Amino acid sequence: MNQLSQKTRLLFVCLGNICRSPAADGVMQHFLKREGLDQNVLVDSAGTADYHVNSLPDKRMRQCGLKRGFTLDHRGKHFKKEDFDNFDLILVMDKDNLRQVQLLDPQREFKDKVRFFTEFCTQHQLNEVPDPYTGDESDFEYVLDLMEDGCNELVRRIKDGTLLKSN
Ligand code: 4NP
Repeated sequence: MNQLSQKTRLLFVCLGNICRSPAADGVMQHFLKREGLDQNVLVDSAGTADYHVNSLPDKRMRQCGLKRGFTLDHRGKHFKKEDFDNFDLILVMDKDNLRQVQLLDPQREFKDKVRFFTEFCTQHQLNEVPDPYTGDESDFEYVLDLMEDGCNELVRRIKDGTLLKSN
């Protein structure tokens, strides 16, 4: 089925859900709106830890986002087993996120839905999005560079209908 005739559901996942994944969420929503595709795609984010449930993104992440025109106003959520059914693609930021997500899918029933966000970066060659939480402003800026890169490619793949077809 044409992806644009069926809502594509994307979930970004990191540890705390206050830095990387809500940045991906906000950048993706911004890009989709710009392309007039926001009604075709459901975007959300979650953390493998529950420390920051209902919190806004980290202030440093929000400030860096605003400077680039991204409003990051997600409220923290904890990744749950039901998310495997509720989303088509679960994009993790690092290997620890992958391990935590896999703990909720011991039979690997949903393995094809779980991918590294960095697989979609075309301008940066790396395996993981580094956690900026204990870093400085340049680390947050770097996260946004990666988010813009990967989200551009995600939008391109949604538009050409290849996002959910290849591994
Ligand atoms: P995130 O960053 O996983 O990109 O949201 C972190 C945020 C908070 C913590 C760790 C990482 N924390 O330990 O509270």
